[in-house]
This record gives sequence, C-alpha cells and structure tokens, in this order.
Amino acid sequence: MKITFASEAAPAKDAAVIRFVPRDQRAKLKPAVSEEEFSGKANALLYSRDTGTLCVGLGERAKIDAHTLRSAAGAAAMFLKKIGRTRAVVQLADWPKFAGPVVEGMVLADYRFERFKTKKSTVLESVKIQVLAEDLAAAKAAGKHGETVGEAVNFARDVANQPANLLYPETLADRAEKLGRDFDLEVTVFDEKKLRAGKFGGLIAVGQGSVRGPRLIVIEHRGGPKSEKPIALVGKAITFDTGGISIKPAANMEDMIFDKCGGMAVLGAMAALAELKVKRNVVGIIASAENMPGGGAYRPGDIITTYDGKHIEIINTDAEGRVVLADAIAYARLDCKASAIIDLATLTGACGVALGEYAAGFFTNDDAFGKRVLAAAEKAGERIWPMPLFTDYEEQIKSDVALIKNSGGRLGGACTAAAFLKTFAEDTPWAHLDIALMAYREKDRADMARGATGFGVRTLVQLVEGY
Ligand code: BES
Ligand code: MN
Ligand code: ZN
Repeated sequence: MKITFASEAAPAKDAAVIRFVPRDQRAKLKPAVSEEEFSGKANALLYSRDTGTLCVGLGERAKIDAHTLRSAAGAAAMFLKKIGRTRAVVQLADWPKFAGPVVEGMVLADYRFERFKTKKSTVLESVKIQVLAEDLAAAKAAGKHGETVGEAVNFARDVANQPANLLYPETLADRAEKLGRDFDLEVTVFDEKKLRAGKFGGLIAVGQGSVRGPRLIVIEHRGGPKSEKPIALVGKAITFDTGGISIKPAANMEDMIFDKCGGMAVLGAMAALAELKVKRNVVGIIASAENMPGGGAYRPGDIITTYDGKHIEIINTDAEGRVVLADAIAYARLDCKASAIIDLATLTGACGVALGEYAAGFFTNDDAFGKRVLAAAEKAGERIWPMPLFTDYEEQIKSDVALIKNSGGRLGGACTAAAFLKTFAEDTPWAHLDIALMAYREKDRADMARGATGFGVRTLVQLVEGY
C-alpha cells in the first residue's frame, strides 16, 4: 500500500473518495439520503457507484476521537477491498489531526493472512491523504508514524497467524534473528543447551514434552545513553498449547496457535521502535516453547526450579505460560537490570470470563509505572482494564512442598496467575497484560480481518516513546 499526502484536490481518476461524516452532517449530504440508507453512526457506510464516493459515519461529534477515525478508516478500507477497488483518496481536510490513526487503520484493514489461500483478496494499492496546505507537514509526519506502527502490528499478526507445524520456537528464533539483521537490533537466542546450562528450569520443563525444543529470545534496541537501564518488554510465546499432560478438550484447540501472541506483540513493538529510532534502551524478551504431552513431558506434581532459584510445584501443566514467564521476568530483572518490566501473555481463559473480549486485564505492582501503561494504552486506542493483586491471591498459590504452585484453582484465575508472575518481578516496577481474549478473533470485524489482532504492539510502542 503506497501512501501519499497532498493538499490539492487532484482529480481522483479511478480512485474511490473516502469522506468522513459525523452524524450531524448526515442531513446535509447531497443528494439527500434517508436515515435508513445512511445513519451516520460510527462505521456506517454509504457508497455511490456513480461518483465513487464512500461516506463513512463517525457517530456523535462530541465522541469523535483517534479511535473513531482509526476504525472508520479501517471499515472504509475493508469495504473498498470487498468491492475490488484498489485506489483511494481520503478527504481529511476537516480532520487533519487524525492523519496518524487514519493511516494506521487503513494499513491494519488491508492485512489478511492469505499465504495458503489459492484465491487472494484485493489489496489496496494506493491511498492519498488530502489535507489543507497548512496541515500538510504535520499530517505527513503523523501519517508516517501511523504507517510504521500499523506495519509493525501487521508483522506481529503475520507471524502469529502461522500454524504450529511451521512456526515453533526454533523457527521463531530464526525470524527474530532476521528481524535483527533487517533493523540493526541485537538478537541473542538461548537454545535448549544454553537454557539447560543457564538453569532456565521453567522453559526447560514446559518445553520438554515436545520434539521442538524451547528458546529464550532476547532482542536489544539501544537508542538511549549507555548508562540508561532498559525497559523490558516480555512476551509469552507458546507456539502451541495442548495443555500438556493436563490436556485440553479438542474443541477450538486449533486456536492455541495464538498462544504465542504476547511474544508476537513484543516482536512487533521491537520492529517499530527500531524503525522509529526511539531514543531509549529497550530489551524484548520472548519465552517460547511448545506445550505438548508425551513421554518426556513435565507432570503435575513435578517441582521445578526457575532461573532465579525459586521452586514451583506444578499442579496443572496447562498453566504453562506463567512457568516460562517466571524465567523470562527473572532474566529481565537479574541480567538486563531492567528499570521496569511489562509482560504480555495469553495467560488465562479466566480473564475472558472476567472482562469478556473487550479489554485486556491489567495488573501492576507499581502505581507510577502502572499509570504510564494505562496512559499509553489509552493513547494507542487499545483497551486495558485494572484488576486487583490482593495478598489473598498470593495465599491461594502457596504450596505445601515448594515456594509457590502454578495453579490456585478456578476462582480468581486471572488474578492468581498475575500474583504468580509478581513473585518473579520482586521489587522491579512491573505490569502485566493478560491478552488471552484480545489476541485473536474468530471472525472478520468491520475494521480488521479474522485471526491474530496484534494487540499490544501499539501500547508497547506508545509506552516506550513516552517513557
Ligand atoms: N493459553 C491458555 C489461556 C487461554 C485460554 C488463551 C483461552 C486464549 C484463550 C493458558 O495456558 C491456560 O491454559 N490457562 C489455563 C490456566 C489454568 C489451568 C490454571 C486456563 O485459563 O484455563
Ligand atoms: Mn495452557
Ligand atoms: Zn497457554
């Protein structure tokens, strides 16, 4: 998708024209349209084949924000793709400050996972953003940022959508190394041998049931002064989660290819931060394993020792995410000396029971850092919602035979999982996003295709940029 910016209303030959219409403008459209034809509500569409104009509703004027425009631009792009139009002019003279979200929304809407489809869908070839001359420079800069972040989200989605027979810890590490070469990031991969030697007991335990061994992938972006401690972005990347010996039911198990999405958010964010040349030190840490049952698999009752020497009693091998993250968070704290740690993980179905598929669960041990994360998510247009870390949850996961157990039962499942992770952050400012139900969608939405959503990339980029 080639994106250009212009201040002239250049003749839009063979390009569809996208017009954003707040609800109060609906009645002023010419030729007049009925409310039934076009409501003007957010993402409502009205297309005229004669003029090639596509009106997109923005809803109530007072509520219009970056999110409204991002979604509306996405819905417009999805529609144009559907009717086979490949070029668009976006009339943005009234909304120049939303050039970033508009470009981002169109880039996100243009992506579809079609590597294995015989029939490919139409892709948008060119999009021209039209603003007034005085807004051109600012719109260009914002649009370029939106394009970079949007492409990074799509990159995360594209890796996340790969099935587990093709994308497993080793091939994920290969992909990260390629990213390192492309973007001048330093990538270090701990393979099984190195993990064993380094005593990463969590990754080894979860990965030992699979013939495809685990990896810890460390990606460094050094944009800040040498002395600046990095912020650590940690991601769960279980390339397939069968549950292991505590095996999952068959229904929808195929969705567990998306159990790597926390790690993919980190991968995408690192790509964007490198491309944007953000002047901060950042370390991305991806804990990757395949959780399989088998003769070599870890078992309920096993007691394992994490990278920082803590002992975990395994109750349920399906609570594997927290076990690999224990190692990764400890590594961020001890080896990277992170000033703050944020982890993203498709950690619990219970988080979905609590919040539905409308927000990620948000936990923190540090109010000041937590506020930054909340503000970043708000600005990025990704919804996260505060959840508690009462000491009761810590009681619930105390073990009779070790420091901690990996499951505290059904009640408060998202919170006990977070309390588990908190143990490994110790005194380092830490935040955790449980993205289990935000990471993928089974069906197309108005502004985004089905599959991995890339949730988290935008919040991470925003967090680091404002850090
Ligand atoms: N990967 C799952 C969580 C998940 C569920 C992600 C649904 C996306 C959609 C995680 O590893 C898991 O299995 N969690 C268990 C924890 C339990 C065994 C304590 C869960 O949520 O049931
Ligand atoms: Mn699991
Ligand atoms: Zn999992």
